Amino acid sequence: MDIHKVGVIGAGTMGNGIAQVFAMSGREVALIDQDGDALGKALARIERSVAKFATKKGDDPESAAASVRKLIQSSTDIEAVADCDLVVEAIVENADVKKTVFGRLDEICKPDAVLASNTSSISITLIGAATKRPEQVIGMHFMNPVPIMKLVEVIRGHLTSDETLATIDAAVASLGKTAVAANDYPGFVANRILMPMINEACFALMENVADAASIDSIMKLGCNHPMGPLQLADFIGLDVCLSILNVLQTELGDPKYRPCPLLRRMVAAGLLGRKSGRGFYDYSK
Ligand code: CAA
Ligand code: NAD
Repeated sequence: MDIHKVGVIGAGTMGNGIAQVFAMSGREVALIDQDGDALGKALARIERSVAKFATKKGDDPESAAASVRKLIQSSTDIEAVADCDLVVEAIVENADVKKTVFGRLDEICKPDAVLASNTSSISITLIGAATKRPEQVIGMHFMNPVPIMKLVEVIRGHLTSDETLATIDAAVASLGKTAVAANDYPGFVANRILMPMINEACFALMENVADAASIDSIMKLGCNHPMGPLQLADFIGLDVCLSILNVLQTELGDPKYRPCPLLRRMVAAGLLGRKSGRGFYDYSK
């Protein structure tokens, strides 16, 4: 199936990037968030990012931003995605909330529309079971920052059809990104491997093995990671990291995934990383 119009539910860290890359591919986008302020911030962020790419290419940044912006319609009403061919959900990492949203999408979307989740860790089979079209539900796991990262981890639920998989593989290729398949296990591949490293960095900080800047410098300079693990946790969002670790621990039942108490405490204190202005580092300036 060809994808002409895309709905994106959730305009936070990931949703704005997902809306941006689909609009940059020339498609119409309906961007939805329950929070009107989040929509305003997302649109401003998209314009800045498109302008940055245009400047690098030697194009006029203002007209590039305006032409991408023109393709994005924003709304707090989920019904605005009713005529979309593909809807990508990028809301909070909570299985019950996602199931409610997928139940609603199933009611309002066209019968042939594909419903994708950008979940980092939650079962696609479980999300698909909240709809009457589980064969058209799939995991489409973009990486942060979406406009830069080349990978989309594609996860097939137990009932996802070959046709849905082919549609999503083609959509990913049309964005200039690479789709790599993973099976429907908690955290799939990326977060099954990444989150234990971030969690271990939190334990190292809590146990005073080194301070935050030293932990990050050691991993950047010593292991050639582009960001240290604590800097990356701030970039992802500490709430998102904690939710993913909770899924890994609950679903795999292994105490090795237990979230570090320091991570739990920071999330409880509202220190969520870049998006809240403070996490392991201070971004208020
Ligand atoms: N739009 C446009 N351009 C952007 C951009 C955006 N949103 N974000 C960064 N850039 C550009 C910058 O302008 C810069 O361009 P130049 O080199 O031409 O100046 C370039 O990208 C590099 O950016 P910076 O100089 O600011 O910083 P950097 O060299 O450290 O790169 C980074 C930034 C690409 C984010 C890099 O630090 C990186 O790869 N970090 C790791 C990211 C990562 O691991 N992501 C996965 C997270 S896990 C996940 O996503 C899954 C999950 O479920 C949690
Ligand atoms: P975020 O907290 O930055 O943004 C979530 C947005 O969803 C918020 O703006 C919120 O208002 C909105 N929202 C919440 N419930 C909603 C609802 N019922 N209807 C409409 N809008 C709603 O979160 P994020 O970091 O963008 O993560 C979104 C999803 O993407 C999660 O499933 C997360 O695991 C996944 N993900 C995150 C990253 C990352 O690095 N942050 C990377 C890959 C995947």
